[in-house]
Amino acid sequence: MLRVFIALDLPDALRAELETVSLRLQRRLAGAPLRWVAAESMHLTLQFLGDIEQEQVSPLELRLRTAAAEFAAFDVRLTELGVFPNLRRPRILWAGLQAPDSLAVLQRAIEAHMAELGFAREDRPFTPHLTLARAHRDAQPAQLAGLAAALKAEQLTPLAARLDELVLFRSQLNRGGAVYNPLIRIRLREK
Ligand code: 2AM
Repeated sequence: MLRVFIALDLPDALRAELETVSLRLQRRLAGAPLRWVAAESMHLTLQFLGDIEQEQVSPLELRLRTAAAEFAAFDVRLTELGVFPNLRRPRILWAGLQAPDSLAVLQRAIEAHMAELGFAREDRPFTPHLTLARAHRDAQPAQLAGLAAALKAEQLTPLAARLDELVLFRSQLNRGGAVYNPLIRIRLREK
């Protein structure tokens, strides 16, 4: 079995900026019950599929190539930091992206293709975000009370970036956390 998800890869400049922001936040939030995502693991998730069999990889690749063929690279910009579901009960700390409407169109096209292969659609609306940290499962809201101030103090550079590669990632859950490896890389059309 392979645990997989579909994402857009990030260019180095965006990854570097996210790492800088993450390191500053880690200093401000030292000791908070958060698991920080390593810069090399950051990505923009389009759909989490979960466990698949090896035989499912090639039909999946065909669908991904079909979906991707219609789309050119996406020009995005870092906008703000935020948390899901909210600051009273923070679970995920993220950097938000302003993206063209075509990104949500790609996400829906992928979901439609995946639905034909039997994968359930996400039950939440698509919100483009880059996860920086996740709260420990047993974290108490009081232990994360410093988040609001840390986010407010952080100045996010509105960095522009071009996302031009769709990736099927394998996620392996190890003791040290999840490790992501690309199984398939698909370049989007040149702009
Ligand atoms: P994220 O985009 O909010 O970070 C790999 O685990 C990626 O798939 C993560 O980036 C994660 O969310 C996303 N994902 C979505 N649903 C998931 C689930 N049920 N289990 C694990 N990851 C999930």
